Amino acid sequence: MAKVAQRYIEIDPWKLREVGFHEKQAVVSESLFSLSNEYMGVRGFFDEGYPKETLIGTYFNGIYEIPKDIRRSHYKGISDKLHYMVNAANIFYTRLYLGNELYVFDPKKISHYERTLDFKTGESVRSYQYENLFSISFKRLLNMTNYALAHQVITIKPLDYHGPVTLQIGLDFNTKHWGNPGFWEVSDHKDYAILGHTTTHQSVFEMFQIHVNVPVVSKHTYDQKCQTEIMIFDLNQEVIIHKDIVSFIDKAGETSFDSYLNQAQELLKSASYKETLNQNQLFYQTYFDHNDIKIEGDLANQQGIRYCLFQLVNTYQGVSEKNNIGAKGLTGEAYSGHAFWDSETYCLPVYLFSNPKAAKNLLMFRYNTLEQARKRAKELDCKGACYPIATLNGDEACDLWQHASLQFQPTSAVAYAIWHYIKNTKDVDFLLDFGFEMLVEIARFFSSRGQYNQDQTKFGYYGVMGPDEFQMMVNHNAYTNLLGKESMSYMIEVFNKYQEDRRVKHVIEKLGLHIEEIEVMKDQCEKMYIPYDEHTKIYEQHEGFHDLPHIDIHSIPVTDFPLYSHWSYDRIYRNDMIKQPDVLMFMFLYNSHFDLETKKVNYDYYEPKTIHESSLSPSIHSIFAAELGYTKQALDFFGFATRMDIDDYNRNTKEGLHLTSIAAAWVNIVYGFGGLRSDGEMLKLSPMCPNNWSSYEFTIHYMDSNIRVHVTKDELTLNVDQKVKEAILIYDKVYHLEKGITKIHVMEH
Ligand code: BGC
Repeated sequence: MAKVAQRYIEIDPWKLREVGFHEKQAVVSESLFSLSNEYMGVRGFFDEGYPKETLIGTYFNGIYEIPKDIRRSHYKGISDKLHYMVNAANIFYTRLYLGNELYVFDPKKISHYERTLDFKTGESVRSYQYENLFSISFKRLLNMTNYALAHQVITIKPLDYHGPVTLQIGLDFNTKHWGNPGFWEVSDHKDYAILGHTTTHQSVFEMFQIHVNVPVVSKHTYDQKCQTEIMIFDLNQEVIIHKDIVSFIDKAGETSFDSYLNQAQELLKSASYKETLNQNQLFYQTYFDHNDIKIEGDLANQQGIRYCLFQLVNTYQGVSEKNNIGAKGLTGEAYSGHAFWDSETYCLPVYLFSNPKAAKNLLMFRYNTLEQARKRAKELDCKGACYPIATLNGDEACDLWQHASLQFQPTSAVAYAIWHYIKNTKDVDFLLDFGFEMLVEIARFFSSRGQYNQDQTKFGYYGVMGPDEFQMMVNHNAYTNLLGKESMSYMIEVFNKYQEDRRVKHVIEKLGLHIEEIEVMKDQCEKMYIPYDEHTKIYEQHEGFHDLPHIDIHSIPVTDFPLYSHWSYDRIYRNDMIKQPDVLMFMFLYNSHFDLETKKVNYDYYEPKTIHESSLSPSIHSIFAAELGYTKQALDFFGFATRMDIDDYNRNTKEGLHLTSIAAAWVNIVYGFGGLRSDGEMLKLSPMCPNNWSSYEFTIHYMDSNIRVHVTKDELTLNVDQKVKEAILIYDKVYHLEKGITKIHVMEH
């Protein structure tokens, strides 16, 4: 696998630490040191400005723009509702003048550079010395519970410089997006407060207050969407400037300036860096008390997985059912802030077993956007509902037709996620109040999009693209066919079981669901064609895959990666090279359907063809490698998953963090080494401890109980906070876990 670590961050179990300024990785660091709190996100750009490549990014969940040059395609079904999460105001805008001269960061003139990000507080601190003149530090915090609050502290200490200093700090709506300026219209402003609007009529209100520990001469300025305070002082002692910022958003853009102003003034009265630091400390302590993953004997992976846990909770904790998880979270412009099938497939399991309310909210996002999914199905000449491949607000916003029109992973992922959620929470109310309606529409989509072959013996999907995005417009992709079948049969199962329930009756009536429709679906499920060779036990990824020209992936030079920017577009699609798991993906989702031998032959066949160009890929392979006893491979893949961004394995961390593959890292350790299986009759655990580790620990929240799992080479210890309501299969034995500690001998895989 052509992945090479670009390691420059110090290893530390609870922090990121960059010691000395790494100019080549300056933009990677901006991504790594990003802060977010589900509501907003700020990249780790330099407050004082950086003279070379930089992405000054501040994003709000769900605040978007539409590309100005959208032209309707002549082809029906190609989405014209494109949108992207737009870069908002720079809330940490800072300019420093020594005398009259603008201070510019110069790597050659600074020393003692250090930047840290503390996972226990969410505090980011950057400090350095400028020649022998002064030292400076910048601290930042986003409040994890009072989401609208952010803080900045700037400390300047004189060394040999004792002259006048001008510090200009404020809010700047002149931000660029994709390198272009001019996205924001400022409709109102007043000293310290500014109200910006997007062309989509959403609004972002910003206000700040400042406290300085020395007397300063100050004046207030407003210029071209930039609201600042200019402070002049002599640098004779340590000067500390505290800035508290309130950011409010209104997705409907209806809140008036005065109403925003009143609320902001109120909030600022009690706002302080110290207060937020205390609140964050408590927040992260509670979070890690419940969710920490400990690895003894492997500091690099310990840091990696903690960083993943930290960024996961920052990105999404289920605060609002209107929020979703962008593939890059709130940390960059790549992928436009869009949520993909990643949310249900990779992120939902994490929340399902740590914060089920958040898992439910992720599903509610899909319920709330069902109407758009219905429209999308119609655009594709189908019935029911087709969920978007990429979206912020429920509309399909993917501008590559082959992805948006041929990929049905998001649609089947929603059905799968409902099934998975219900199975592991028994939240039947959710199923009947919201789930069933989505299931009917999803089943209708799969029923109407599929076709029979000429002699009517095979049903399936023609002209599709499965999870492996290196195979476009194929027939009978095994993943799509299998998931289509499972989506329809689950709907039928729920229908059969609950058709007398008042809520189900209501949906049946509202949607006009007839028994004939169900009969048709049953036949389609029966005839669903899954390409499979009984002799070899290999599933063919799609009809014809086995005959594709072969490429030895190890012959591809490292410098060709990522392939999407080095190979001509069509060249990627004409051979047996795989981007990410496809057959292995459905074997992961329905793990208990397949015996070990089948998993092994399919892994052995497909893994050597896979280049893992998607960051979502290594973790699934690691899980299989662990199950099959390929422990070394399992650990190698796990290392990529936990440190994908810290070590910039995919060479594109500068564009933003791979947030959903961060979720996949959790799935990797818990399903991989922990052997969790949540798709069978019973929840199953079969942990093993890799040789290089002395032990590891994680928590599963299941049926209202917290199960702390501690694994050494020989002993598995389960510490349960209250009797688990359902039986659990541990290795091959059924356990009814009581409150307290249970010890079990570790079994070999
Ligand atoms: C992957 C998709 C994924 C998307 C967002 C792509 O590279 O192929 O499966 O949904 O990234 O993470």
